[in-house]
Amino acid sequence: MNIVIKTAKDIDCMRVSGKLAAEVLDYITPFVKPGVTTNELDKLCYDYITKVQEAYPSPLNYKPDPNLYAYPKSICTSVNNEICHGIPNDKPLKNGDIINIDITVNKNGYHGDNSRMFYVGNVSDHARRLCKITYECMWLGINQVKPGSFFGDIGYAIQTHAEKNGYSIVQEFCGHGVGQVFHEDPQVLHYGRPKSGPEIKSGMIFTVEPMINQGKRHIRFLPNQWTAVTKDRSLSAQWEHTVLVTDTGYEVLTVSPNTPKRPEFIK
Ligand code: MF3
Ligand code: CO
Ligand code: CO
Repeated sequence: MNIVIKTAKDIDCMRVSGKLAAEVLDYITPFVKPGVTTNELDKLCYDYITKVQEAYPSPLNYKPDPNLYAYPKSICTSVNNEICHGIPNDKPLKNGDIINIDITVNKNGYHGDNSRMFYVGNVSDHARRLCKITYECMWLGINQVKPGSFFGDIGYAIQTHAEKNGYSIVQEFCGHGVGQVFHEDPQVLHYGRPKSGPEIKSGMIFTVEPMINQGKRHIRFLPNQWTAVTKDRSLSAQWEHTVLVTDTGYEVLTVSPNTPKRPEFIK
């Protein structure tokens, strides 16, 4: 494992990329309504990222696995029982859906990565609760970040809160180091034991992006081979931020004017 410690220049560039990635989520928010297709959302984001931000959507043509075809779209749109890597398509969103939109932008060779949940029209109380608890899980994980703590502390905080609320943690996907490489070391597990795993050090940059299921944790893949869904067809939610480790704690890099505020119980 080789966890990169970022330079001052790297950090400046990652602040820029993180802000742009968050601003795409701000931009797309008013378009997420019943009747819109995820392909329409993809096109809007592609145009915004390339024309307004003069950046590149990192997922487009991304090919991490030699046995899998390149990712064909600019964003990931994971609806209801889809866990992650939902590929935009021509099916309209419908009232009551929940959707994760995951945006990664490459600006000046640096990747900013983040995602949020959106409600499509009127959403049931149980779906809202899943999204809210998942958001709290992400923040409880981020809140563990400081030099001298361990990656296992992040996973433990997330897992404890999810399971206390009757939910399960997806184990096949994790957060990741990010910088000039989209996915780099370490793997940031969303479950685990306190004080396990690598030590967290100042200058590391990584994502925290828990995927949490209403039912059991087990997954299967859609025939498109990219999209993970819950095996039991239960709802799944995810939130993601890119985080820098500072000398005293953390700085969230994926911030924009409309970033949702942190939960009250996070200092
Ligand atoms: N943005 C996702 C993550 O949080 C990765 C998407 S890879 C893609 O790590 F190819 F599916 F776009
Ligand atoms: Co990520
Ligand atoms: Co992402």
